[in-house]
Amino acid sequence: MLNFSSEKCNGCGLCVNDCKMLHNIVLDERKKAKILNSNCINCYHCVAICPNEAITIDNKIPSKAKRYSSTFTSQEYLEFLKNKRSIRQYKDQEVEKSIIEHIIEAGIYSPTAGNKQPVSYAIVTGERLKELTKLSLKTLKSFADDFNDGNIDLNIDLNSAKRYTSMWKRFYKSYFEKGIDELFFNAPCLLLILGDTEKTLDPKTDCVIASCNIGNMAYASGLGFCYNGFFVRAYQSEEICKFLGLELKYNLYTAMTIGYPNVEYRRTVFREKKEIFWI
Ligand SMILES: Cc1cc2nc3c(=O)[nH]c(=O)nc-3n(C[C@H](O)[C@H](O)[C@H](O)COP(=O)(O)O)c2cc1C
Repeated sequence: MLNFSSEKCNGCGLCVNDCKMLHNIVLDERKKAKILNSNCINCYHCVAICPNEAITIDNKIPSKAKRYSSTFTSQEYLEFLKNKRSIRQYKDQEVEKSIIEHIIEAGIYSPTAGNKQPVSYAIVTGERLKELTKLSLKTLKSFADDFNDGNIDLNIDLNSAKRYTSMWKRFYKSYFEKGIDELFFNAPCLLLILGDTEKTLDPKTDCVIASCNIGNMAYASGLGFCYNGFFVRAYQSEEICKFLGLELKYNLYTAMTIGYPNVEYRRTVFREKKEIFWI
């Protein structure tokens, strides 16, 4: 459970601003951060970003984030992975084409089943990304409306379906009424990781492995990224496929926003304890 200390909170609002996806934290009338409801997905970004250790998890706090050096020990690599957060705040700065190509190389050199190498990449930037943002928001809003009218099944549990559809409606309103982009967070670049279903029937695992390596490479290059499952869902719409103009043989498995982070996390986060089965 998250604990908010009003004594330690300095009202900076970093946690409020960073709780991008869920809008779960607000400043109260005394300018002290407080959590709103049970929408929390336990990402602990609020704990990681707080400069004053005002937010704790069951009164405990994760260790400090560490800077990494260019030559890694395995412990440093583990810390690098632990410090990597999903980035939902980006600088208004383009990412050079050569840098994107550099990080994609980490995907190209990833293992693939039978070495069939069915993974392809598409990069959306600039005006095309702005158009795609609008189209995706309209698509997700129409999915939400159809779900509410009982016309479609989202193939997820009912609670998640309700939560996502209300988020999609909010994203739509925020963007078209206030110009706030809660889907892609004004990232300068959207990378799509596509599987060629003519090369192999189910390229999903290959695409996911390539995505992980690209994400790590992005982080090692000073970039930030965030997977975007919502866009993968929106890609089910014919209009979006048409807009992108990609051949039908390409299935989309992951999408990630990429850009220079405009946020710094001071701490790592906790994860659930996992049982490891030694057999
Ligand atoms: C498959 C997948 C889909 C995701 N989709 C979204 C998304 O659509 N929007 C978003 O803001 N974050 C998305 N995320 C980010 C998760 O919310 C995030 O990884 C999780 O809360 C843990 O936070 P961390 O990555 O900073 O440790 C996605 C992550 C994964 C792995």
